[in-house]
Order: sequence, then C-alpha cells, then structure tokens
Amino acid sequence: MNEHTTHQRIALVTGANKGIGRATAEQLAALGMTVLVGARDPRHGEDTAAAVRAAGGDAYVVALDVTDPTTVQAAARRVEERFGHLDVLVNNAGISGAGPSAPLDVRDQVPSVADLDIVRAVFETNVFGVIAVTNAMLPLLRRSPAPRIVNLSSDAASLTLTGDPDGPFAGLPPVAAYTPSKTALNALTVQYANELRKDGVLVNAAAPGFCATDINHHTGHRTAAQGAAVVVRLATLGADGPTGGFFSEDGPVPW
Ligand SMILES: NC(=O)c1ccc[n+]([C@@H]2O[C@H](COP(=O)([O-])OP(=O)(O)OC[C@H]3O[C@@H](n4cnc5c(N)ncnc54)[C@H](OP(=O)(O)O)[C@@H]3O)[C@@H](O)[C@H]2O)c1
Repeated sequence: MNEHTTHQRIALVTGANKGIGRATAEQLAALGMTVLVGARDPRHGEDTAAAVRAAGGDAYVVALDVTDPTTVQAAARRVEERFGHLDVLVNNAGISGAGPSAPLDVRDQVPSVADLDIVRAVFETNVFGVIAVTNAMLPLLRRSPAPRIVNLSSDAASLTLTGDPDGPFAGLPPVAAYTPSKTALNALTVQYANELRKDGVLVNAAAPGFCATDINHHTGHRTAAQGAAVVVRLATLGADGPTGGFFSEDGPVPW
C-alpha cells in the first residue's frame, strides 16, 4: 500500500452537535473520514459521535467554542497530538442573533446599544470565530495531501439576491446581524482562497438552503441532511475543484 491509500482522512466540523453540522459529520464519516465533532458543550457532541459510531464510522468529540480562543487553541493541540494533521475543516458553527431585542426591522427603529451587542455577538461567532478556528487549524491543514475548508454561508448572504427588489428575499425584513455576517463570511472565503491557492487548500462557501433546524425553529422546508450534501461535496473536491466560490447544491450562487 502506498502512502495515499493509508492516509487517515480527518475532518473537523464546528457546531456538529446538531443540525447541519451533525448531518455533515455523519455524511463525512460515511465516506470513511474520521470525524472530529466540534461542540461547545462536549456532552452534547456525544450524541453525534455515538450516532456516527453506531453507523460504523469513526468519531471523537472536541470541545470547541469558536468565540473562546482557549478552546480553539486546545482543540488544535488535541488534533495535532492525536492525528498530526487535518484534511477537512467545516466552519459550520453559527447563530442568527434573532430574538426579542434583535434589530430585525431597522425601518422602525434605530438599533439601540443592546441591538448592537447582538450584532457584535453574531459577528463574533459567524465571522471572527471562523478566522480564529481557520488560523489555528491551518498548520494542520497544510500537512494534508488534499486540504479543504468549507464555510457555512447562506443564500441570504448574496448581495445580488438580497439587493434585487423582485428577488427571493424581497419580502423579508432587513436584518443587521445574521445576513451581513454571512456576506462578510463570503468575503473572507475569497480572501482565504486567494491566500491559500498556492498551497493547494481549496476554500469555498456553501449555501445549504432553508433547512429545518433549531436556528429557524424548524421552519425550513429542507432537512439538515439535504443541506449538508453541498457541504460534503465541497469538503471532498478533487484537486481540480474550484476555490473561492459560493455554491448551493444547484451550482454557483451569485455574490
Ligand atoms: N438552517 C438553515 O436553514 C441554514 C441556512 C443557511 C445557513 N445556515 C448555517 O448553517 C450553520 C448550521 O446551522 P443549523 O441550521 O444547523 O443551526 P443549529 O441547529 O442551530 O446549529 C448551530 C450549531 O452551531 C453551534 N454554535 C453556535 N455558537 C457556537 C460557538 N460559539 N462555538 C461553537 N459552536 C457554536 C451550536 O451549538 P449549541 O448547540 O451549543 O448552541 C450548534 O451546534 C450555521 O452557520 C447557519 O448559519 C443554516
């Protein structure tokens, strides 16, 4: 056997204790990858790891709060010590910021100080957390023969779609936190892709579609497993695959 066939493929999925992250972990494990289930409460990650193992896969829980640099660094150390490298990073962890005091409708109110706290919290998780985790894991990803990074974006991150008065999001109230945070994540995806192209690290943003999960109180019309499919496709791209792109399962999404 050559080195390629014996290579143990390791995938880290942040926020993998439920929803699309859990479905992604299960699907990557079904492809033969060892899955590291990132969970800010490791007890909650055990369900996902147990489900993967019950299906014959390989999974370990990694305590990881993307907004907590201590857990981010500890997670990177743990991956380094146990596996020495990382093949796939899925930046899935995300929050909506929706709630009673979220600036969901900026037509009727100027965001208050409390509202801006929510905007900051959402950017802390959805954007700054991605930078922290990606930078911590990059040295490990660079040791992979086929490193892939997938960032969980949203169709609503598309300025083309949201800026179209007759587009699919025309009826939705403006939001100051979630949607702009995902647009920033798209911009970040392109920056990382440009920086890492020479190293063979393919970095793409995924739009999973509107999936029934806790983030939207299960109002989505797709399943988490359906949403995870495009994430898994981008996590397993061949060497000739795209980088710096934005994709749903139907193909490229306009920026
Ligand atoms: N569902 C959709 O329709 C949809 C559409 C477009 C994009 N997305 C994106 O897909 C991703 C997954 O969302 P989902 O729908 O599966 O929602 P979900 O069921 O609410 O899952 C969100 C996950 O993120 C984790 N998380 C939140 N803050 C974290 C932090 N600071 N550190 C680590 N983990 C954290 C949550 O952990 P806890 O359980 O500890 O809270 C949970 O595991 C998100 O980035 C979301 O924006 C979802």
